[in-house]
Amino acid sequence: MRRVLFTFLASLSFASGENGLNGWLRYAPLPDASQHAGSIPATIVALNSSTISPVYTAGLELQAGLKGILGKTVSLSHQSSTEASSIIVGTVDAYTKAYGRPRGVPKLDEEGFWLNTKGNTIQILGQNERAALYGAFEYLSSIAQGSFKPTAYATNPNAPIRWVNQWDNLDDSGTHGSVERGYGGPSIFFDKGHVVQNMTRASQYARLLASIRVNAVVVNNVNANATLLSAENIEGIGRIADAFRPYGVQLGISLNFASPETFGGLPTADPLETSVISFWTNVTTQIYRRIPDMAGYLVKANSEGQPGPLQYNRTLADGANLFARAVKPHGGILMFRAFVYDQLNYTDWKADRANAAVDFFKDLDGKFDDNVVVQIKYGPIDFQVREPVSPLFSHMKKTSTAVELQVAQEYLGQQNHLVYLPPLWKTILDFDLRVDGKKSLVRDIISSERFNRPLGGSAAVVNVGTNNTWLGSHLAMSNLYAYGRLAWDPTEDSQDILQDWIRLTFGFDKRVLNVITKMSMESWQAYENYSGNLGIQTLTDILYTHFGPNPASQDNNGWGQWTRADRNTIGMDRTVSNGTGFSGQYPAEVAARYENLETTPDELLLWFHHVKYDYRLQSGKTVIQHFYDAHYEGAATAQTFVPLWESLKGKIDSERYEAVLFRLKYQSGHSIVWRDAINNFYANLSGIPDEAKRVGNYPWRIEAENMTLSGYQVVPVTPFETASKYNAVITTSNTTAGTASSTIKFPSGIYNVAVNYFDLNGGRAQYELHIGDKLIGKWFGNNEDNLGHEPFAYLDGHSATRITFPGIKIQKGETVKIVGVPNGAELAPLDYVSILPHGIVD
Ligand code: GCU
Repeated sequence: MRRVLFTFLASLSFASGENGLNGWLRYAPLPDASQHAGSIPATIVALNSSTISPVYTAGLELQAGLKGILGKTVSLSHQSSTEASSIIVGTVDAYTKAYGRPRGVPKLDEEGFWLNTKGNTIQILGQNERAALYGAFEYLSSIAQGSFKPTAYATNPNAPIRWVNQWDNLDDSGTHGSVERGYGGPSIFFDKGHVVQNMTRASQYARLLASIRVNAVVVNNVNANATLLSAENIEGIGRIADAFRPYGVQLGISLNFASPETFGGLPTADPLETSVISFWTNVTTQIYRRIPDMAGYLVKANSEGQPGPLQYNRTLADGANLFARAVKPHGGILMFRAFVYDQLNYTDWKADRANAAVDFFKDLDGKFDDNVVVQIKYGPIDFQVREPVSPLFSHMKKTSTAVELQVAQEYLGQQNHLVYLPPLWKTILDFDLRVDGKKSLVRDIISSERFNRPLGGSAAVVNVGTNNTWLGSHLAMSNLYAYGRLAWDPTEDSQDILQDWIRLTFGFDKRVLNVITKMSMESWQAYENYSGNLGIQTLTDILYTHFGPNPASQDNNGWGQWTRADRNTIGMDRTVSNGTGFSGQYPAEVAARYENLETTPDELLLWFHHVKYDYRLQSGKTVIQHFYDAHYEGAATAQTFVPLWESLKGKIDSERYEAVLFRLKYQSGHSIVWRDAINNFYANLSGIPDEAKRVGNYPWRIEAENMTLSGYQVVPVTPFETASKYNAVITTSNTTAGTASSTIKFPSGIYNVAVNYFDLNGGRAQYELHIGDKLIGKWFGNNEDNLGHEPFAYLDGHSATRITFPGIKIQKGETVKIVGVPNGAELAPLDYVSILPHGIVD
């Protein structure tokens, strides 16, 4: 009891700080609270006496919520004495025992709940205890949004599995638990090879997740460390499970297939060996002794260097069933990832990584135990900005499946770019695979409705860290919120979900609502426009950080994220007739659509077809001109985010306002880096100029390499397209400042001055911009302190950064001068200065 109260109060104490820690559960005072406070009952009855019960938590949460939102002090009791004029929260069964069967409540599915605010008594009744907590959060969410309309309804989940997967590493002693693809700081669960002592953040995370009805968290990386199975660590994860339990969130863990060898000292990890089976049975018994309600295991096998059953000539189903049987007696589930693929030979025209999942899994349908769920990434490759749905969903008719989404924006700007993901997710969830010629929406397949499977649902890769904002970015939290909402009900509208999140996170101002809605709803399209179009994939650097542009990195290697771009043509031929045969993995109607160039939608054209750059799309544009135009459009949209956000100054607390502004400014600059890199790359490769003559022509730029340099030297940049005109300058020494100067030849006037430079993580160089004798600005190359993306050690598309100084008065003939002071490995690298008349961004 003391622990529950402590962590709960700890989270509430941050409410006024607006640092993001409470996410969408701020319980901020309603502007017209006094009008409503009187109509809310003054007593809460939480129909359960156990302090670790989610119902108990629901009572506390309701009490705190009503206090915060309405300023109303409400008493909390755990006795069922009074029904009149109270808020009653509990299970339907507990209610029935106390007061008799509640009237009007339909039969609820597992974890469904009933909310009735129509009478004097408010009923929040769950099919089980965690469902009652879901109901309490739902009630508080409507009050927090100022909605008091009496209502009575039941709601049930689309699917039983609504998990998140953290890719957190235990790491060795000495390192703070890193998060694979984590951009919000180190792990909240692990530190220096151990489970952390302080469970405050674990509790707070469970609270956020329970409010969006996520019911389990796999706490460690799919690239799992076998030492998680040590007695000390089992005790540690037991403490995490204890912190989750009052919120009805279960714990799951990822396993390393080779553990019997690497941890257990056995000579093999063969899934059919008796000693291996006993190893896993024993380990599982030990874990369940400490965590009797553990959700289950997640296994990545035979993928990206991870060991697996294929090494022992066993099938993937043999491997999955090994773990499934170990958890079965304890009621656990085995999530088995379909992300299985091998390195491929680029010279083989028919080789295709996209084929791998179906190739590996289709013959195994029916061979998995009934507590196995095959967890399938939404697209056949890897969380790209646009992919067709994984065809594997249509092959698993006798197997439970879950879709794997990624809240972590690994390929989508790493939470430094605003990208609201539900519109992307909807292209998958709403897709009709037409299995056997019948309606087969992905959301109905994972809900078990289409193939009548016992389990199913979704898992999202989430990368929260110790940063107060959880994800490193306030706005990225809309994705986590929306994930839970869509896992519960995938038919919900992306914009409606977003607007609930905005009201809960930023309050009621109409302009705030409109601006964040506009930016968010445009953001995925914008990102797709300035990264990779027409289904070519994100075009980020796939060999290094997955962050900035590097289209060449896709091809000529074994990873299979190929574009097959050459001087004349681009795109993967995935047809059955002439290509890799991938289109034939879909059910007939869908296969026919994708097989045919004319019926393939433009947005996926280069995913399925290899065409000439001047091939005309359904839109009427050529492929190459579409690339050029889309990149200009996408970057132009990103420019609008900054003034839009600035129009909210004073309407949002300054801490969050400034933090978001910083990232949006960064994004607006980086979108131009993307635009120019991709456009120049393909202009160079194809030799086809931009009809609008923008690509390669930048009349307002002064290239650093053309300036008068002192203490600076010219260096070529790799990849070439990530620097304007391919070169940059760096200081000649790592101790002495350099200057780059030039006479301004533009007419006198007011300009926005942009400086493009490279911000490496090996130092914090200092820059000064002077015009004439005026110091216009001074800044540091310190993105490493402010942005959470992956390391950026070179001059390239990841480190390329732009800063803009608006409204600068300039006289023709004045000198523009940059002074760069090197620091560490950062030799104050500089690319160009743009002197931009009003309305021009270049
Ligand atoms: C991607 C990601 C890896 C991750 C893998 C997975 O390839 O870059 O970091 O391990 O997916 O999903 O297993």
